[in-house]
Amino acid sequence: MPEFARRASASRTMHRTLGALLMMCGIGSAFALDVPMSMAQTIATKGTTQGVPACVACHGAKGEGNGAAGFPRLAGLGQSYLLEQLNAFAASTRQNAVMQPIAKALTDAQRQAMAAFFSALPSTVTAARVPEASHADTGAWLATRGRWTDGLPACIQCHGPAGLGVGESFPPLAGQPAAYIAGQLRGWKHGLRPPGPLTLMVLIADKLSDAEISALADYFASLPTAGSRRPKTEGAKP
Ligand code: HEC
Ligand code: HEC
Repeated sequence: MPEFARRASASRTMHRTLGALLMMCGIGSAFALDVPMSMAQTIATKGTTQGVPACVACHGAKGEGNGAAGFPRLAGLGQSYLLEQLNAFAASTRQNAVMQPIAKALTDAQRQAMAAFFSALPSTVTAARVPEASHADTGAWLATRGRWTDGLPACIQCHGPAGLGVGESFPPLAGQPAAYIAGQLRGWKHGLRPPGPLTLMVLIADKLSDAEISALADYFASLPTAGSRRPKTEGAKP
């Protein structure tokens, strides 16, 4: 890592100039492998001269998120999922006062590079034993069993055992901040977030009461995680 950091820093100025030239010529994608990754690292840790703040200031130095502030973890999420979200913020179909201006200030190529960058960072959350759900625990019960009388599938059917996420399209929920999870479910209910694949999450959110949303958010935020820090009070030092 130090070696990589040194190289990255030594070649940052050159890459920035090169990146700017490439973008002016509109051929940034021809160098999809090298240039955008170092460009992404620069944006993640320093922001851009166009006023984009460093992503790590909110999303954590390792993309691990910030539980106390409700900023989601980005590390290890699907690349196409992350790109969809940045594009949706930029198009204002996903509404959030903080992320909309940031995504709008990034170029298409920069949004692609940021999605690739954060998706390649190792997830800071790993599975641990999930406690048996009791019917009295609304969050755990709905998450692991759903409510079939109402056509509500268990969340873990799509979000994976222990909520760790599945593939590119089903993002992890385990260890994401409770306020963030609840905010997304309410967002779908109120049209503040695009429907996403097959409008699955709109159909699901519509079946949940406000109390159930809070219970589910608390459940996934508090899932036991093994061998890793909870994304809670981590400092955001680049
Ligand atoms: C000032 C704080 C802040 C900064 C800086 C910031 N973000 Fe965010 N980000 C947020 C918040 C808050 C949310 C949750 C938005 C919501 O509730 O919909 C978010 C959400 C996201 C999401 C959606 C995650 C998901 O699971 O759907 C992505 C992707 C993202 N940010 C990428 C970035 C990138 C890339 C940068 C840097 C260019 C960045 N953010 C900088 C605060 C920030
Ligand atoms: C049939 C599949 C399916 C089921 C069941 C399901 N989800 Fe999802 N969920 C998705 C998909 C697909 C996405 C990504 C949506 C997008 O791309 O906009 C998603 C996204 C989410 C997100 C946003 C994550 C982020 O990083 O922003 C939350 C929160 C969420 N689901 C919560 C739940 C909860 C809670 C349940 C159970 C009540 C549940 N989901 C059940 C398919 C499902």
